[in-house]
Amino acid sequence: MAKVKTSFFCQSCGSQYSKWQGQCTACKQWNTIVEEVIQKPEKSDWKLPASSTNRVSKPLKINEIDSSADARLNMIDNEFNRVLGGGMVPGSLILLGGEPGIGKSTLLLQMALKLPYKTLYVSGEESQKQIKMRAERIQPNSENCYILTETKTQNIFKQVEALEPDILVIDSIQTLHSDYVESSAGSISQIKECTTELIKFAKETATPVLLIGHITKDGNIAGPKILEHMVDTVLHFEGDRNHVFRILRANKNRFGSTNELGIYEMQGSGLREVSNPSEILISEKDGELSGNAIAATLEGMRPLMIEVQALVSTAVYGTPQRSATGFNAKRLNMLLAVLEKRAGFRLGTKDVFLNITGGITVDDPAIDLAVVAAILSSNEDEALQSDFCFAAEVGLSGEIRPVQRVEQRILEAEKLGFSTIFVSKYNKISLKNTKIKIQLISKIEDLVEFLV
Ligand code: TYD
Ligand code: MG
Repeated sequence: MAKVKTSFFCQSCGSQYSKWQGQCTACKQWNTIVEEVIQKPEKSDWKLPASSTNRVSKPLKINEIDSSADARLNMIDNEFNRVLGGGMVPGSLILLGGEPGIGKSTLLLQMALKLPYKTLYVSGEESQKQIKMRAERIQPNSENCYILTETKTQNIFKQVEALEPDILVIDSIQTLHSDYVESSAGSISQIKECTTELIKFAKETATPVLLIGHITKDGNIAGPKILEHMVDTVLHFEGDRNHVFRILRANKNRFGSTNELGIYEMQGSGLREVSNPSEILISEKDGELSGNAIAATLEGMRPLMIEVQALVSTAVYGTPQRSATGFNAKRLNMLLAVLEKRAGFRLGTKDVFLNITGGITVDDPAIDLAVVAAILSSNEDEALQSDFCFAAEVGLSGEIRPVQRVEQRILEAEKLGFSTIFVSKYNKISLKNTKIKIQLISKIEDLVEFLV
């Protein structure tokens, strides 16, 4: 097969080189030069029937364009549907990234097994037998799911033409290779070329394509940055591998909001949708323990009650230790400084450990007040009432600051049977007849007064 002509381009300034080099001579950036295809052989990889290949698109008035044809495909999985913004759009390309072993293959295989549409699951990572073994753990019977182990795009398209699936799943984009580019699978030019071919296929046949993508050490999807621009939706599957919860988040979505979030629980028989996360994230315990506080946070658009645990103890060895899991350590230091300066607690000689249960990382500032409450409770060794919860940010001068969508948080707390929620006095609340007591506070001293 004829090879394509390739050349090397700087991704930063666009200068062209005949061979690779570490630094771009023009803009002096390092490691920005990558190989790119400059001329493809005439023969196209994805071919449509001759009648439609010469189609030329014409400009249309926006209200003449028929959008009703784009009914979304229901993915059966409620969490996945929500993250996509109500189902999968025909002809769209979805990229799912996540750490190795987090459950990307499991999630998409499970979906392929459940879907009522003809689904082709192409794997370049596992053999058909291995996939069958995994499928047996999840759901052994499916009429519509086809498995193909293949890595060459041209061969995949041949099978697709014969099978005509409604949905195509690729596990993973880094294992694919196209004949038109010489470099090895997983290289930047291969990933780009294979994605381009898949996009062409998806748009021309209106078949949605789900791609699994590996991520690099720093959490980005491996391959060219442009990959994320090329696809319609970028999803991230994250969580702590030692915990059972997994979060599906949209980082980019051309057809919906990126605020939505899906939560799953990894079980022995695949992933279970978690429709009411708050109930699980709060641990069951006998009696009240000091150092625990519940925060009413928001993850995306969903309210989520999260348990914060703190342990304050006298430092035995020299410099006191501060450590936080699931919470920003710098922010913890700031909150400790505020407690020391504004409320007079001598925490400078104490070790402080903080943990967010469930292996979840929270960046909602509304968790501040619960963190402070947990630290106070552990420091005084006195348990908070277990039906208290908190939702406010703490400022540098110890002021309790308002948070967004506080009413939604209050209603969630009420639904879960909390008796009192502590929020900022500066939040505008127009809720009437709530059963839950809304405790308004304005300074950190107010909280200390209530709790200690
Ligand atoms: P996998 O989907 O292979 O991860 P990825 O494709 O993101 O690399 O997930 C593998 C992990 O999931 C593995 O550690 C075992 C676990 N698992 C379960 O706990 N239950 C199950 O039913 C399955 C299929 C996997
Ligand atoms: Mg996998």
